[in-house]
Formats: sequence, C-alpha cells, structure tokens
Amino acid sequence: MAILNVSNVNQYYGGSHILRDISLKADFGKVTVLLGRNGVGKTTLLKSLMGLVPIRSGQIEFDGLPIQASTPYERARSGIGFVPQGREIFPRLTVEENLRMGLASKPAGTSIPADLFEMFPILDEMRKRRGGDLSGGQQQQLAIARALACEPKLLVLDEPTEGIQPSIIKEIGRVITRMAK
Ligand SMILES: Nc1ncnc2c1ncn2[C@@H]1O[C@H](COP(=O)(O)OP(=O)(O)OP(=O)(O)O)[C@@H](O)[C@H]1O
Ligand SMILES: [Mg+2]
Repeated sequence: MAILNVSNVNQYYGGSHILRDISLKADFGKVTVLLGRNGVGKTTLLKSLMGLVPIRSGQIEFDGLPIQASTPYERARSGIGFVPQGREIFPRLTVEENLRMGLASKPAGTSIPADLFEMFPILDEMRKRRGGDLSGGQQQQLAIARALACEPKLLVLDEPTEGIQPSIIKEIGRVITRMAK
C-alpha cells in the first residue's frame, strides 16, 4: 500500500519551472530512493512534500489523505519526519535539546525514545554537547534521530550520506532499513 502518492506536481521558483508533472509513489514498509543529477529538483520535491515550498498544481496524498493544502507543522504532526539536506540541526542547543525539538508535536513531558540512543550510541555519549560542536557525521545522526523522535510513519531524508564516512553510511543504512520493517 502506498503511504505517499504524489501526482502531477508542478512547482516554480519565480519564472523557473522546476518540477514538471512529477508523480511518484512510496510504499508502506519499504525504502524508496530518488536519484538525479545535481540541480534536477530532488530537494525541491522533498521540500514540496513538507510544504516548505508551495506547489502550483498537483496532488500530494499521505496515508490516504490529501495534504497539499496543509502547513509544514500539520504535515509533521500527521506523521512525516524530515531530515533536510545539510542537516539543519540547532547548533547552539545540546544534543538532548535538539532531540526534544523533535518531540514538539507530542504532548508536553513526552520523553525521548530510548531506542534512539541504542541506534546512535554517539548521541548518548554526547547528550550535553552543543549540536554545532559535533562532527558532520555526528550531526547527520542527530538530524535523523531528531526526525525519528516523533515516531513518524514516513521518514523523508535528503542526501543522508552526503560527506559521511563509509562506516557511518552503513550505520545509517542499517537504521533506515530497520525502521522500514
Ligand atoms: N530558493 C530557490 N530559488 C530559486 N531557485 C532555486 C531555489 N532553490 C533551488 N533552486 C533551483 O532549482 C533547481 C533545483 O534545485 P534542487 O536544490 O531541488 O536540486 P537537487 O536535485 O536537490 O540538487 P543537488 O543534487 O545538488 O542537491 C536548481 O536549478 C536550483 O538552482
Ligand atoms: Mg538537493
């Protein structure tokens, strides 16, 4: 069953037509990969899914409901976790505070799921360190953990392995496939 169903999406930056009649499906319980050369519009498509850039036409269905008119926070609350290209963690907040930001859509007092620290032990070690003081690969793990904190039904990752060493790429791959099961 498709958790995500995108049909005939068109998007423009000013007069530049970037997404031209894009359609794609992502099935529940599977990993779906989007490939394309630099500048082709992958990030733009993922931002459109989250409502971070407006689309001009087309349908985006998540978990059976149209979401193209929803705000980004409504989409996050409905169960889409987003890991943006370049991580965009909060550099001045600690690792733990960054993870708490991922819980913003949950009731106050919800604790950080313990299995996040099992998946990414480095984050447990560095709980009190500021996000901006982590290495690039550690920040990527933090960004993924932050998105997983709210237990999303769909996890959208933009370039999750960009600039990351092979052993951490394996680790990220292991976590993502485990989450999809
Ligand atoms: N905010 C913006 N305003 C205007 N044009 C933009 C903006 N963001 C991206 N673009 C342009 O839209 C096109 C698609 O960019 P996008 O970032 O979606 O590509 P991408 O496939 O993610 O590339 P990469 O592999 O380098 O990450 C590019 O031509 C880019 O220059
Ligand atoms: Mg991109």
